[in-house]
Amino acid sequence: MQAEKYTFSDNYRISRVLNGCWQLSLGHSLNGPLDFADVKKAFYQLRERGFTTFDCADIYTGAEEFIGSFISELKQDPDFREEDIQIHTKYVPDLEYLSKVDYGFTRSIIERSLQRLNKKQLDVVQFHWWDYEVDGMVATASYLQQLKEEGLIGHVSVTNFDTEHLRMLVDAGIEITSCQAQYSFFDRRVEKGLQAYCLANDIPLICYGTLAGGFLSSRYLGKQREEITPETRSQVKYLQVIEDSLGWSGYQQLLKLLEEIAEHHGVAISQVATRFVLQQQAVAAAVIGVRNSRHVDDNVRIFSFSLTEEELNRLREFVDRYPILPGEPFELERTIGSKYRNIMHMNINEEEQA
Ligand SMILES: NC(=O)c1ccc[n+]([C@@H]2O[C@H](COP(=O)([O-])OP(=O)(O)OC[C@H]3O[C@@H](n4cnc5c(N)ncnc54)[C@H](OP(=O)(O)O)[C@@H]3O)[C@@H](O)[C@H]2O)c1
Repeated sequence: MQAEKYTFSDNYRISRVLNGCWQLSLGHSLNGPLDFADVKKAFYQLRERGFTTFDCADIYTGAEEFIGSFISELKQDPDFREEDIQIHTKYVPDLEYLSKVDYGFTRSIIERSLQRLNKKQLDVVQFHWWDYEVDGMVATASYLQQLKEEGLIGHVSVTNFDTEHLRMLVDAGIEITSCQAQYSFFDRRVEKGLQAYCLANDIPLICYGTLAGGFLSSRYLGKQREEITPETRSQVKYLQVIEDSLGWSGYQQLLKLLEEIAEHHGVAISQVATRFVLQQQAVAAAVIGVRNSRHVDDNVRIFSFSLTEEELNRLREFVDRYPILPGEPFELERTIGSKYRNIMHMNINEEEQA
């Protein structure tokens, strides 16, 4: 069995589940260092099974370099072609540097990603802007567009944009290939407007948080909140998201419902959770974080079944009983003083540059 593909309107193709590499960044794992030999093994296995697209970022310390080492190994095979795997990185200028961002700085970060990844062109660069109050967002996106015209970038995309600011980029003539946003049973803020805008403007969504850092799995069925110690920075975040959406008891009820549906298809809870997102409007793909080779074979089974209309409706009716997080996508994360913002690192690039 192979991972399904998604083809964009310009014929660019990716796997419908991307291999997420935030999990590889320095400090992400809270329960000890990763076994990077096992992660590399996972990369080879994923690629063999059609999971050919990787998601990383300029600010995921060490992740671009690790993918670059994988690409270098692949290049030793004379039959390997660069287009056989796709790399989606991000351009995340530091919060404190936003007002100073210019073409030269932007180009230097893109060149650094190219060098780290051992590539001649970045397939997709997803643009992130920490603070809409700081001027320069549209100008900075236009530098990426220019770098695309110069051949350093294949596609310009965005991440963590809300509807209004994505529209500003589109209205300014920036060609946006995709929009990466958090989307799961616990976080449906995209449904307030961004999803409809993306659908109407042929900007497919690439969704992260699909498994809520791994909490959407049978491992947590029947667990009390007090028994949980987060193992990753990702889980620190999703504990907040669960608390403010379904709450622990709603989450546990959801796991039971997912298990019932999963059993019917002969799959696991995590596969049903991913299919739910993949079967929503405007969704091209989901990103699932990789920390080891344990889940590779399980995740292939995402493509072994589809949820029926009735199952989708049951799940939708269940989550509709609970509040959607306030605001547009990433609004809480941008709000000064919010617990969502307080756990984020917003100034990484400049430290790295120094
Ligand atoms: N644009 C942004 O701002 C942004 C933000 C966050 C994430 N992302 C992207 O999205 C990726 C995913 O990150 P995330 O935080 O949303 O995490 P996630 O994908 O929801 O969760 C990843 C964790 O799920 C567990 N897992 C994977 N497959 C599983 C399976 N079949 N069964 C049970 N558990 C499974 C693994 O945990 P164990 O290995 O520990 O079991 C893994 O570390 C990141 O790597 C990054 O590329 C982007």
